[in-house]
Amino acid sequence: MHSASSLLLTTLASLLSATYVHAATYSLHQNNVGTDFLSNFVWETTANPPGGRVEYTTQSDALSANLTYAHGDTFIMRVDDTATLSASDAGRKSVRIKSNEQYTTHVAVFDIRHMPQGCGTWPAIWEVDDTVGVAHGEVDIMEGVNNHSPGYSTLHTPNSCTMPTNGRNQKGTAVGNDCSSTTTESDGNNGCSVSSPFSSSYGPTFNANGGGWFVIERTSSAVSIWFWARGDDTVPAAVSGGASTIDTGSWSTPPIANFPSSSTCDFSTNLKSHNIIINTMLCGPWAGERYSASGCPGTCIDYVNSNPSAFTDAYWDFAALRVYL
Ligand SMILES: *[C@@H]1O[C@H](CO)[C@@H](O)[C@H](O)[C@H]1NC(C)=O
Repeated sequence: MHSASSLLLTTLASLLSATYVHAATYSLHQNNVGTDFLSNFVWETTANPPGGRVEYTTQSDALSANLTYAHGDTFIMRVDDTATLSASDAGRKSVRIKSNEQYTTHVAVFDIRHMPQGCGTWPAIWEVDDTVGVAHGEVDIMEGVNNHSPGYSTLHTPNSCTMPTNGRNQKGTAVGNDCSSTTTESDGNNGCSVSSPFSSSYGPTFNANGGGWFVIERTSSAVSIWFWARGDDTVPAAVSGGASTIDTGSWSTPPIANFPSSSTCDFSTNLKSHNIIINTMLCGPWAGERYSASGCPGTCIDYVNSNPSAFTDAYWDFAALRVYL
């Protein structure tokens, strides 16, 4: 009896220490809920990219126009749905926020109730140092256009970088494997995009389902992006419950996208410190380019100018954004 139970204890102890050694465990560093976003992010008034049709607002203007609303466990960023624009207007008012802090190795959990939807919309959650463009690399955690499901996760690099075509630990489908921003691929894009395998991870389907959780883990050896829809009972309790520690090694669900560092893509030269950026672009190089193909009416610019009420659902609603280091 005695020796059997001590053997059991020894076995348990070695199992626990083995788990501890192999797991990637992170501690909660910054918990953004409601008004936390106002102090931990800056409202960027970045100019439009070619063909873009937004006017990004300062924090004070966004708060007074209720394009930003932070209260309790709600943080909303919306697009103006009242003004009819003329050609001389800069664009439809929108919001773009950037974290004050920069990160390298980290986990970030985005608990989202609603994302911008509608023709002409291009919602994005991404990580980059936008003071240097793509020179320090860029990870697009989640983006898409014109209600067209699924969304995409993409790695952009300043230098040569190719992803393996096979054997990546991911559920999504690789659309391109040359991540270098100096190369334009046959689809007109650049970067290594992976399309989500879930229609529930983007647009109206995501919203109808009550949203869900996107998670990024960046280490020196890989970037991985997971998604769980609201109500998916396979979501790790630490993700849905906002735990103080997160152990990505304990998750059985493969990520939707996995970008490994390797001899053909050296992260040490391609990925530096990044801010987290969340924004809603209208039209521009992607949403404008794909506007008609997405089944949207007329031209993107005319639609944005003349149809304010079409942007009532073009809003983000975040329950939380938790950063773990
Ligand atoms: C601002 O937006 C919030 C969230 O949608 C809403 O509950 C609130 O009533 C709005 N405030 C005003 C003054 O419109």
